[in-house]
Amino acid sequence: MTSRLIPVAPFVLTVFGATGDLSRRKLIPALFHRDLDGQIPDDATIIGVSRRSLSDEEFRAFARQALIDHIPTGELEGSPVERFLSRLSYVAADADTDPGWSELASRVSAQDDKIPVYYLATAPHLFGPICDKLGKYGLAEKGRVVIEKPIGKDLKSALALNEQVGRIFPEERVYRIDHYLGKETVQNLMALRFANALFEPLWNNAHIDHVQITVAEALGVEERAGYYDTAGAMRDMVQNHILQLLCLVAMEPPSSLDADAVRDEKLKVLRALKPVDEHNVAAITVRGQYRAGASAGGAVPGYLEELGSTRSQTETFVAVKAEVENWRWAGVPFYLRTGKRLASRVSEIVVAFRPVPHSVFGEAVGPLEPNRLVIRLQPDEGVKLWLMIKDPGPGGIRLTHVPLDMSFAKAFKVRNPDAYERLLLDVVRGNQTLFMRRDEVEAAWRWVDPILEAWRNAKEPPRPYTAGTWGPSAAIALIERDGRTWLEDGA
Ligand code: BG6
Repeated sequence: MTSRLIPVAPFVLTVFGATGDLSRRKLIPALFHRDLDGQIPDDATIIGVSRRSLSDEEFRAFARQALIDHIPTGELEGSPVERFLSRLSYVAADADTDPGWSELASRVSAQDDKIPVYYLATAPHLFGPICDKLGKYGLAEKGRVVIEKPIGKDLKSALALNEQVGRIFPEERVYRIDHYLGKETVQNLMALRFANALFEPLWNNAHIDHVQITVAEALGVEERAGYYDTAGAMRDMVQNHILQLLCLVAMEPPSSLDADAVRDEKLKVLRALKPVDEHNVAAITVRGQYRAGASAGGAVPGYLEELGSTRSQTETFVAVKAEVENWRWAGVPFYLRTGKRLASRVSEIVVAFRPVPHSVFGEAVGPLEPNRLVIRLQPDEGVKLWLMIKDPGPGGIRLTHVPLDMSFAKAFKVRNPDAYERLLLDVVRGNQTLFMRRDEVEAAWRWVDPILEAWRNAKEPPRPYTAGTWGPSAAIALIERDGRTWLEDGA
């Protein structure tokens, strides 16, 4: 496989928040993997920045530990680790004060033949101050800036944040990461839809009954409770990851994979979402919060115990019946749900087709199950197409519902790269297709804000659910009222 990978152009990547969690768990391992596959040119360098006072050697030791913790041992043998670590250096600097910035500026400008990338792996309130400093020290002129969600906590704060970043970096050099867009299967969704003639003619309300998007996590909020309590599942997962998945399912075929062609189509979907407000919020949304229960065979605490509080009304579960109001999707519900501490970790999109109009098989065979296309993001990424086929054997026709099942791990026998590996190199390539444009983020908030407001005004606490289950019973009622049922594991 390695021989097919094309190295990117030389870059100098500065990671702010370099000793933080995102850098340790995701960015350093992702860069190492790309290096291992020969995609990082010899003269590319990585500068770590944070407030901690560290020498280059100490930062390399930190990065070495990150690799030991997050890369399988077999891949760490031999010289690639030393080659990778030799790319790293470190500067201590604070977003609010000047010391360290001249040093950073001279290190970056000493490499002005390379593409400068600034990854802000920091708390969002530092995005503005860091961009200002990058501007002040002359680092923004050619640079690309990468920021992560949460991009604001509502439309107003998102506008302010985009404005602050936009004062220094033009939109074509701002890369807003939604790591779901870097996942292999998410891109496969585009491949399935637009590289096959099979699905597109059926991809509309004449043939699709409904769509389900589930992003279920078995873990609780654990040590992230402090952040999570200010966000909740709607801001943490629905506003970004789940709406992005919905966009990829629902968008019109773009004219090309050009970044703006794809993002224009996604934006149209976001703008076509049927508004949810105080008039319909109770009927089509459910919010929940987990109580103590069991997960992976052990007892686990409830959200409030993890938070160390008795009062929070933050939701750890959301289900919404969304609708895309356009010709293609009129009348097709998109049932969305996500939650922490659910029964298992499973993220998938189920496209449920309509039943056949008439059964020629007679009553003895029983009802015919409709076809379903299941795109599984995790775990074991893959695609299943559920079909009715004849049960093998003599004795008349019996039908059975079985999946044509393609697990990517089995089919391709290659390691599935982490989303950050692809996204980091796309920044260097200057390809924004898999990054959220400013107006997309703002359109997503325009849909989410009235829901949050309606919940606030209703003053109803989130519905409790036991950890290790599929969420509050009201979420089951939400879909069963429509004569449908949540499909777990695409079954
Ligand atoms: C993050 C959320 O964006 O995505 C987390 O902030 C969540 O709360 C995570 O756990 C899920 O990502 P993944 O890739 O593990 O599905």
